[in-house]
Amino acid sequence: MIQFLGAGTSGSRTRLGIATDSICPTALAPMQDVTGLPFMSLVSERGEPDMFFTEFFRVHANSRLDPEILSSVTENPTKRPVFAQLIGENISDIKRTVLELKNFPVAGIDLNMGCPAPRVYKKNVGGGLLKDPAKIDQILEVMRDNWGSNLTVKMRIGFEDDCNFERILNIILKNKINLLSLHVRTVKGGYNTIPSYHYVEKAVEILQDDCPILVNGSIETAGEALALKQQFGVLGVMIGRAAIRNPWIFRQIRELSSGKSPFVPKRSDLYNYCIDLYHELSHPHIEERKMVSRMKKFLNYICLSLSDGGQFLTQMRHAITQKELFSVFEYHLMLNSKSDLEISNKPQGTELKPNPMLTVK
Ligand SMILES: Cc1cc2nc3c(=O)[nH]c(=O)nc-3n(C[C@H](O)[C@H](O)[C@H](O)COP(=O)(O)O)c2cc1C
Repeated sequence: MIQFLGAGTSGSRTRLGIATDSICPTALAPMQDVTGLPFMSLVSERGEPDMFFTEFFRVHANSRLDPEILSSVTENPTKRPVFAQLIGENISDIKRTVLELKNFPVAGIDLNMGCPAPRVYKKNVGGGLLKDPAKIDQILEVMRDNWGSNLTVKMRIGFEDDCNFERILNIILKNKINLLSLHVRTVKGGYNTIPSYHYVEKAVEILQDDCPILVNGSIETAGEALALKQQFGVLGVMIGRAAIRNPWIFRQIRELSSGKSPFVPKRSDLYNYCIDLYHELSHPHIEERKMVSRMKKFLNYICLSLSDGGQFLTQMRHAITQKELFSVFEYHLMLNSKSDLEISNKPQGTELKPNPMLTVK
């Protein structure tokens, strides 16, 4: 069993809604078009994380709280807290949205400072904010002045490089942020560069117990999650893509951290997950072809659990109807005694590239 380590005193855990006996607290990372109500339910059935974050609510002059995203707060199917994530930069629009959120049972409000899509960062929101620490300070100040409960930040280590990193950490400290989720890449580093975990050390040094940290970025297994917690003394981990591929990962982290053997999913478990996912995502208003393409977004990640030379991926991409898709699931996950085969913990056939703007330590 690993020891309780670092930030995340019992006071801050209680405030964030994390059970005091959670050895390595976890969060499902916010993922647009993925982590809505259906996916939250599916993950919860397979072992809940300690915290959920909504996909981002866009904040601009004409913005209203998106009802579909809001449903993951108002119809939260889990017993865990849900934090509402905002993306925006206009001070009065942010203030209006924060006040509006007071009407809903959110565990806290989270500011997105990481989205790397050029159409987003070019408007100086999401990852674009990291270029302008003074603006971050103004935004966090207005949020803090208008929101008494948890205020959290999800950020990358910088835009192109790490030149503003320490300054932003100090702004986080100054505005009494209650939790930092740190994706250890720059915005320009995208999603598939080698994560620079050593930046967590600096964040812990500056924030200490005042603001607990969740490490984020390409954490693939329960073992990696616990090793990072132990190495840096952070509160815990935030996991995104690995949870699409392996929705049992939060359960595995809980089991491994308390000295138990973690659950080992088989292909038949993956089969049931794929079928459940299709049904959860289905809606009478969504036509079959659209449902199949929606599923493919998830399946692009799920197929990384199989070492089959990309066969599942190729075949599912050809499916147009539900029947065709389900027969791909059956062929690859159930037939010919395949159902008993274990699925891989690590993603198959993916390779992370160095980020040339940062020295990898
Ligand atoms: C499909 C997708 C959608 C995402 N949407 C959001 C989002 O709405 N808000 C956000 O802060 N991060 C978003 N992210 C980033 C993730 O939250 C996370 O920081 C990133 O994927 C790295 O973590 P991982 O390696 O565990 O996936 C998204 C990532 C993906 C892959």
